[in-house]
Amino acid sequence: MSTTGDTLTARGPLAGRARVPGDKSVGHRALMLGALCDGVVEITGLSDGEDNLSTARVLGQLGVRSERDGDRARVHGVGLDGLRAPTGPLDCGNSGTTMRVLLGILAGQPFEVTLVGDHSLTRRPMRRVLEPLTRMGLTVVAARDGGFPPLTVRGARPLTGLVYASPIASAQVKSAILLAGLWAEGETRVDEPGLSRDHTERMLAWLGTPPAARPIHVPGDLSSAAFLLGAALLVPGSDVVIEDVGVNPTRTGFLDIVAAMGATVVQGAPRERNHEPAADLGVRCSGLRGVEVAGDLALRALDELPLVATLAARARGVTRIRDAKELRVKESDRIAQTARMLRSFGVAVDEHEDGLTIHGDPDRPLTAGDVDADGDHRIAMCANLLALVAPAGTRIAGAESIATSFPSFHACLRALGAADAL
Ligand code: S3P
Repeated sequence: MSTTGDTLTARGPLAGRARVPGDKSVGHRALMLGALCDGVVEITGLSDGEDNLSTARVLGQLGVRSERDGDRARVHGVGLDGLRAPTGPLDCGNSGTTMRVLLGILAGQPFEVTLVGDHSLTRRPMRRVLEPLTRMGLTVVAARDGGFPPLTVRGARPLTGLVYASPIASAQVKSAILLAGLWAEGETRVDEPGLSRDHTERMLAWLGTPPAARPIHVPGDLSSAAFLLGAALLVPGSDVVIEDVGVNPTRTGFLDIVAAMGATVVQGAPRERNHEPAADLGVRCSGLRGVEVAGDLALRALDELPLVATLAARARGVTRIRDAKELRVKESDRIAQTARMLRSFGVAVDEHEDGLTIHGDPDRPLTAGDVDADGDHRIAMCANLLALVAPAGTRIAGAESIATSFPSFHACLRALGAADAL
């Protein structure tokens, strides 16, 4: 259990340059698509977060060798016909993306596999992928009531192509179906109600179909960089630059939101590798105002919405976040958890089925928080951002979950000038 020992405070402005681990979403896809290439795929910039490690581990159980050296990996792709039946269950840890996207690949494998996950993953709905994949030819041998893990599935070959009108904008659902399409006869296409992150499409365009071995660079994770930018926006006088951050337009909603709140984010010239743009991002602390977040903007900032709510607590005026019902089925119920976390710091917040209303006031003193992150890395990081500017004494239980996406979170904040809370 992590307590005050992991909680940082700001004794002065945050300043300097930092790098964050590679984008988790791109990393999963680099490992999975790399595994399906015929030949060795060199990956640079890969995150050391536990979620990407889960993907590498389960691919190893399916017969894909990979070597790791810091943020570089060499994946010995086995081609579309080379995956082997594992001898035991595949443990996807905390990673919904590992389980859901991998199910798309497993749909095309003519063997039976059991997938398990941690306490949080066991509560996450899988029917959204199982239903379309079943229509393509996957057999669900066993699943808990309502399609929750643990799951046992059996793939088939060939699969039947599927033109799918997805009821939700979900990159995990879209990716699972598109990858299953690699073993399908006929057209496979996914239409979604809004454009979810498009890393799978970009990587398939880079590697081709069937995928051919080419190097892949994983840019820094905007979803992690956002916490450092957010820290700088909270701590008066701060001025930070985060280097080489992925700025794929399906992911940059957070930058648009903080701009609408009054922040100036300076974006360096974007560089594109394997069809993924990346740039340095700089921000200086400035007063923030409340903002309305809904529709496509909410989708493009999905994982950052708890952070937006956190910043909104210190902004002047009301912030309304809507159309974000999906947050209820993330690593935790992030609407309920964000509201609980903010209240624990003394912030006024209303909870709605599909979002939050935050009554921001930069002049209202915070109280020290007492937060149980319930195993959710992003809630733990949000709590630590408020702790930077709250009175001493904040306790964050479950902060070890931060390692799933951003193991160097505390180190980065310290390097920018944050100090251990006493
Ligand atoms: C992800 C997609 C998103 C996001 C998740 C990672 C991915 O979920 O919240 O953290 O890598 O495909 P959706 O499936 O809701 O788009």
